[in-house]
Amino acid sequence: MAQKTAQLSIDGHSETITLPVHTGTEGPDVIDIGKLTAQGYFTYDPGFVSTAACESSITYIDGDQGILLHRGYPIEQLAEHSNYLELCYLLINGELPNAEQQSTYVDTIKHHTMVHEQLRFFFNGFRRGAHPMAILCGVVGALSAFYHDSLDIDDETHRQITTNRLIAKMPTLAAMSHKHASGQPFMYPRNDLSYAANFLYMMFGNPCEEYVVNPVLAKAMDRIFLLHADHEQNASTSTVRLAGSTGANPYACIAAGISALWGPAHGGANEAVLKQLNEIGSVKNIDKFIKRAKDKDDPFRLMGFGHRVYKNYDPRAKVMQQTCHEVFAELGVEEDPLLKTAQRLEQIALEDEYFVERKLYPNVDFYSGIILKAMGIPVDMFTVIFATGRTPGWIAHWNEMISGPYKIGRPRQLYKGPTKRDYADIKTR
Ligand code: SDX
Repeated sequence: MAQKTAQLSIDGHSETITLPVHTGTEGPDVIDIGKLTAQGYFTYDPGFVSTAACESSITYIDGDQGILLHRGYPIEQLAEHSNYLELCYLLINGELPNAEQQSTYVDTIKHHTMVHEQLRFFFNGFRRGAHPMAILCGVVGALSAFYHDSLDIDDETHRQITTNRLIAKMPTLAAMSHKHASGQPFMYPRNDLSYAANFLYMMFGNPCEEYVVNPVLAKAMDRIFLLHADHEQNASTSTVRLAGSTGANPYACIAAGISALWGPAHGGANEAVLKQLNEIGSVKNIDKFIKRAKDKDDPFRLMGFGHRVYKNYDPRAKVMQQTCHEVFAELGVEEDPLLKTAQRLEQIALEDEYFVERKLYPNVDFYSGIILKAMGIPVDMFTVIFATGRTPGWIAHWNEMISGPYKIGRPRQLYKGPTKRDYADIKTR
């Protein structure tokens, strides 16, 4: 089939510029602007609203239809039939594992969950009140100091062991961040527990008594990890790719992704949703906050609503809402006032024309915080859990980029500063 092209004619530019158009297996065609610089132009797209920064085969999102596919599998089917480690395998390897591959993978991850004993001393450098995300940024970046034996990013076996180490150790480091903040002793991972159950054990267990993980909460935790596993070229994943494009080691790249995720416009939204629901307090105050969200002069935004891509319901939010009801039923807290406020807020927002015309629907963060709070997870751990869940996505995108041809990411700009001028001696200023 003949190469599709786009014709660009620019006032004052003598000839029309012909640009190649590429077609993917799903989603919009892309116009390849690579040769525009040679023609004396850059494109301008702050926030990359209309820019495809790379080619990828991992995750596909259709924002208008509310579709999310991981290697072609719909998130709803994965949430119902799969589990988090199976999804990690799928994201990284491209295919669902067979029984033998799954068993080997689970065993491999289990035997990498411990961290180097020396790493424990890093935590002592943080004040007890330090935010767990600050701790996680620090200790994940520090992991590269412990694995000099496998930092050759061009060596596939080094990439494989690093991938397994990061997925295996994130829950351990996350739980250690919590234990340090709470002043409790660290709990060593247990290989007889599933990935999510082990995380809850390391979070809530203590050396003085046996801690039995509630299987309903373990399943909910597994599903929360699963729903956060990957999401195409979001801000933190793009940060990991950009850091990786310089040849930085994967631990440094993941630490960069954790930092980007922390912002309240991105992964920090789940913590911000809980703080906002507490600030709203009760259903009777909702109108005041909806009014503020609609006020152009007020920077206030309804956290957990809106999305750069989804202009329909975030499919993860629907699954999260179902999980919310399962957890609340198990804990016998269906009447939780926060849940009531959240449900009423959602109902009002979905009927309000400001939100309807801007297609602002609840996103993945809207219900996740409510579930995590009901499970006893401290609010400042919510984004740490998002980062733990997102690790396979980050590392899959890093692997995808590094294992093929890539260039260092180096955007340009529209310069609006002073034109050339000569230095003025201080006596003349
Ligand atoms: C995540 O990219 C990903 O995939 C991210 C993520 C992932 O899995 O990696 O899905 C995870 O980050 C989910 C989003 C979590 N963030 C929040 O819940 C924070 C609240 N949401 C907003 O900050 C906002 O909706 C964004 C940042 C999520 C999206 O912002 P956009 O796409 O840049 O949209 P915008 O800021 O241009 O807003 C468009 C309009 C504006 O109004 P107008 O100027 O057109 O009049 O909608 C308004 C905005 O003021 N708006 C909101 C709003 N979100 C957008 N108004 C009130 N409350 C909100 N939450």
